[in-house]
Amino acid sequence: MTRLEAINNRISENDIVLDVGCDTALLGGMLAKRGIHSFASDIKENIVKNAYEKACNEKIDKYIKFIVSDGLDNVKIDEIDTLVLAGMGTYTILKILERTNKIYKKIITISNNNHDILRINMNNLGYCITEEEIIKENGKYYNLIEFKPGKTSYTKEEILLGKNHKNIKLLIEKNNYLLSKYKYFYDKNENVKKLVDVIKNYKYN
Ligand SMILES: C[S@@+](CC[C@H](N)C(=O)[O-])C[C@H]1O[C@@H](n2cnc3c(N)ncnc32)[C@H](O)[C@@H]1O
Repeated sequence: MTRLEAINNRISENDIVLDVGCDTALLGGMLAKRGIHSFASDIKENIVKNAYEKACNEKIDKYIKFIVSDGLDNVKIDEIDTLVLAGMGTYTILKILERTNKIYKKIITISNNNHDILRINMNNLGYCITEEEIIKENGKYYNLIEFKPGKTSYTKEEILLGKNHKNIKLLIEKNNYLLSKYKYFYDKNENVKKLVDVIKNYKYN
């Protein structure tokens, strides 16, 4: 399953979705095929223009409303209740969410990095983890994290490795990959040591 298919699977007909950082709006296209209308935004005007033209060529433009916006700054649509923030870094995602007071019923992230920092800071912003899913696309692992409104306290293991994993088989595979990747760095970096120790003692269930 691809990253975008995994996101698509988590969106239901009654969600009103904004795909922030939509690029070519592939997700909007997948939703359109299901008859779901959605919003798609990007910080770059030319990206939005190209995505709109592509949607017109594919005759799905009536399903996707495009917005040029840095994060949510220019998004003035109250009905939007679900955000997708994928293919960007944790600090970009957090910067976008820190600038709004609105609380969304569902936020689906696939951050490129620092998932521990994302889990902690999303909690500080009032979002807790619903479910996580490791995805493998073209040989690379990605962490999908779905959030809902709420606050919780996480264990050290949950902060580093996540919570409520849907695909334990891929989680084990990713963790084994990390163990072999960090084999020679264990004594050289405190963060690596912490992560490797947590993985070694992790109880999969
Ligand atoms: C790597 S693409 C990811 C595309 C798609 N979301 C995916 O996951 O395949 C990242 C996109 O995010 C956009 N972007 C970066 N920072 C942004 C921001 N602050 N607000 C909106 N879009 C942003 C970029 O212009 C780019 O099109």
